[in-house]
Amino acid sequence: MQGYTEAIFRSAINRIGGIGVFYAPFIRIENGEIRKKYFADIAPENNRGLQVVPQVLANSAADILQVANAVAAMGYTELNWNLGCPFPMVAKRQLGAGLLPYPEKIDSILTEVEARSDISLSVKMRTGYLSPDEIWPVLDVLNRHKIKEIIVHPQIGKQMYNGEADSSVLPEIIAKAAHPVAYNGDIRTAEQAHLLIEKNPTVTHLMIGRGLLCNPFLALEIAGQTLNGYNRRNLLMNFVGTIAERQLDHLQGAGHFLQKMTTYWEYWSAMFDDAHRALKTIKKCRTVEEYTDKVQDIVLGWKMNSIE
Ligand SMILES: Cc1cc2nc3c(=O)[nH]c(=O)nc-3n(C[C@H](O)[C@H](O)[C@H](O)COP(=O)(O)O)c2cc1C
Repeated sequence: MQGYTEAIFRSAINRIGGIGVFYAPFIRIENGEIRKKYFADIAPENNRGLQVVPQVLANSAADILQVANAVAAMGYTELNWNLGCPFPMVAKRQLGAGLLPYPEKIDSILTEVEARSDISLSVKMRTGYLSPDEIWPVLDVLNRHKIKEIIVHPQIGKQMYNGEADSSVLPEIIAKAAHPVAYNGDIRTAEQAHLLIEKNPTVTHLMIGRGLLCNPFLALEIAGQTLNGYNRRNLLMNFVGTIAERQLDHLQGAGHFLQKMTTYWEYWSAMFDDAHRALKTIKKCRTVEEYTDKVQDIVLGWKMNSIE
């Protein structure tokens, strides 16, 4: 997720555990070039001990190939193609979910990429841009190509991030897909994850976005691990503290730092009974020291909704 799950976040949450693979935020070609920040984010030295799959947002074989070659030179063997991004500025240019109404274009892009690259390509897609029926012709196209895996987020692009993913369509997608299928969308609890796997035992994995931002322990919980309150608070303090430390090194000035940490707390506050007051407390901080003190108060002292 752009702005959240870059290398600093990935390394910190990996210390909590439970996550198998990290899909890095998408890389795009701008004016014929890949911006340096994208390289830094997936550079092996910034992702030690993590299994990372880079992702590309593109609507031409040339752009995918440029990114494929760049990531292959860094040692990556898989590239994920984003056919899910719903933002109008993206979609109206036939990028992300905006490419789903054009299966013939997807077909010709895949034909050219396959002919000119050895990279193992996986796809992350919504079920459509304007209609959830758009997935079926796209699936027919994907079935004819060499695709490592299809990660389905069953919402249409026009819904943006509103409403809920419709996991009831997953069995039909799995039945019709010639490739392994993974699931993404609105997994917020271990119970939801277990139910989804029970109903779809062949689903290869679950990709989780906002659920892990709201609860960094979610992957552990899905794996069946329980933590007592003491361990949970300590791990959380370490996680939040590590991100703060690295962001302080990375960002210029207290203002940028506080802004960045507030965007994280828009999700992290959900761990506390009084989420609203937690976020308000963070938003009021004016210095790094004040932020550090308040975070310690909140993480070590405030009632957490996951701790009795
Ligand atoms: C701020 C933001 C940034 C995102 N960036 C990406 C991205 O770069 N690549 C991607 O595949 N999905 C991206 N997503 C979508 C998520 O990966 C995911 O598909 C979506 O949030 C639904 O899953 P969730 O309910 O588990 O969050 C982003 C979502 C948000 C809210």
